[in-house]
Amino acid sequence: MHYRYRPESLCQAPETLSEDVLYVVGGLYGNALALDRIEAMAAAEEADGRRVKLLFNGDFNWFNAEDGLFSEINRRVLDHDAMLGNVEYELAHPSEGAGCGCAYPEFVGSEVVARSNRIMERLQTVASRHSDIQSRLANLARFRCMIFGGLKVLVLHGDPESLAGWGLAYETFIKGNDDQLTAWFRATGADVMVCTHTCLPLLWQGVVDGSPRQVLNNGSAGMGNLLGDSRGLIVRLGTTEPTEAPVAGLGVGQAQLSLLPVNFDQGAWLTQFDSLWPSGSDAEQSYRERMVSGTSLSTDALYFGTGVLA
Ligand SMILES: [Fe+2]
Repeated sequence: MHYRYRPESLCQAPETLSEDVLYVVGGLYGNALALDRIEAMAAAEEADGRRVKLLFNGDFNWFNAEDGLFSEINRRVLDHDAMLGNVEYELAHPSEGAGCGCAYPEFVGSEVVARSNRIMERLQTVASRHSDIQSRLANLARFRCMIFGGLKVLVLHGDPESLAGWGLAYETFIKGNDDQLTAWFRATGADVMVCTHTCLPLLWQGVVDGSPRQVLNNGSAGMGNLLGDSRGLIVRLGTTEPTEAPVAGLGVGQAQLSLLPVNFDQGAWLTQFDSLWPSGSDAEQSYRERMVSGTSLSTDALYFGTGVLA
């Protein structure tokens, strides 16, 4: 119940961003090497004269189940701007039997669910020794609405009804969700929805009530997202083209909406990951192959929509 909110309530008081570039970083999953790279990308843009805002869209904790790395990730992320993911909610408000709060749909196997719940239990044990961090996580917002580049941008962790919703997941777009999208764009008034949580990236564009509307899901900033590609992805919104070549993007008016690769030090990350989650551990079984090889998605498979919905 703590995850639920009403779409009508999400964009009632948008903030206006003054920066030139917004990075929305969903699903860092405790990868400090990816965080190094994202901060370096922002620094490179700033060296080119652009002001950059970093907004972490939840689930920045996951594999960092060790006191030093847990502190480092949270200290560094919370020095920027951050929102709540289900992982942070369950770390800040641990409760018996809640599991990871992932709200996995039926197509996710029971073994995967059980492993995620055990990963969360281990991470909660670490978090319990850091009450200062738990307090800061508890105060994070669940959604944000902002005006950027003339667009009303709604940033969510899951979907417009739940922090852990799968209504903007890749698999949901494959099945078709035009009626739901129409209802959500009408209820929120958003031009762009930026989300994460469900771990596969996508860009959708369509028209609702005469206006172009967009959805960008960044998949994961801290794990590979594409076929044979171990790089993370983040969403970049900018009033200029990115310095680094995006893997996918859309232009809307004066704004460029992109999925930018996070080309972190993969060898250093795997060394750290393997020490925390050795062969046979829950995270190794669920995630290591993806970290090395990416997913089955080609770049062409990221694009959805372009129709008139209403
Ligand atoms: Fe999540």
